[in-house]
Amino acid sequence: MPSLHDDAVPAAAHCLPEAVGILGAGRAGTALARAIARIPRLRPGTAAPRVVMAATRPPAAVRRHLVIHAPEAEAVPVEELAAGTELTVVAVPREDLDEVDPSLLAGPRTLAVVDMTNTWGDEPVPGWLAAHGPGDPTPGTVRIAARWAQAGLTAPVVRAFSEISHHELDGAGRTEEPRRALGVGADEPGPGRDAVAALVAAMGFEPVEYAPLDPAAALEPGGPVFGQETAGADLARALHSR
Ligand SMILES: NC(=O)c1ccc[n+]([C@@H]2O[C@H](COP(=O)([O-])OP(=O)(O)OC[C@H]3O[C@@H](n4cnc5c(N)ncnc54)[C@H](OP(=O)(O)O)[C@@H]3O)[C@@H](O)[C@H]2O)c1
Repeated sequence: MPSLHDDAVPAAAHCLPEAVGILGAGRAGTALARAIARIPRLRPGTAAPRVVMAATRPPAAVRRHLVIHAPEAEAVPVEELAAGTELTVVAVPREDLDEVDPSLLAGPRTLAVVDMTNTWGDEPVPGWLAAHGPGDPTPGTVRIAARWAQAGLTAPVVRAFSEISHHELDGAGRTEEPRRALGVGADEPGPGRDAVAALVAAMGFEPVEYAPLDPAAALEPGGPVFGQETAGADLARALHSR
């Protein structure tokens, strides 16, 4: 039975990371960067974590892209993405995950690597990530975490931000109730999951923490809460029922 905590703000402000790295500067990555940059406007007195971003194109090209799409984020070489950040968010298409080097996702301060990915339609994902038949309940994050662990990643993998569209990530964060709930899952509770939950709360969403990751299939396309504006208790129930 997964452990679930649906407190409105479960993690203290001191858990909020000082810096977040985002791999992928497309729709999802830049929407996350903008939502993080909005924290001080949403919660006056709370500083936004610094955001650094990398993509496949070189930093100079990412920088030009960010001027338009996430002007408060900094472009860095991928080798520096995790050098000084507590969280690394992976926001690249799953079909490109074989091109992601897990050794670059964690650095000396990393508390967690955040899987923001989902499989869309008939996206041609790598063989190791493909479901074993239509009824396979294993969520992609479980396979991704196992793959990265095999490659030597020791930081925990947390799943977050994958069930909300970039449009809503951009605009749905609010301080007034009701706040939209977002899942924050990991294999076990820990400081990495706490830091992600604090970030989610600071961005104006209600974090619903769960462990282990197995019920995350509820958050994938076809699952009951994917893309839905869900209250915390309903999201917790959907994760519990798996
Ligand atoms: N779009 C949404 O509403 C949404 C919401 C939640 C989650 N997601 C998930 O987020 C992921 C990305 O979706 P998206 O819509 O943002 O895709 P997208 O707009 O196509 O952007 C993909 C980004 O990933 C970068 N990239 C690809 N391979 C890479 C690699 N090996 N190393 C570094 N960067 C790499 C691309 O780099 P370049 O810019 O250099 O091409 C691009 O910036 C998907 O798994 C999706 O399911 C999407």
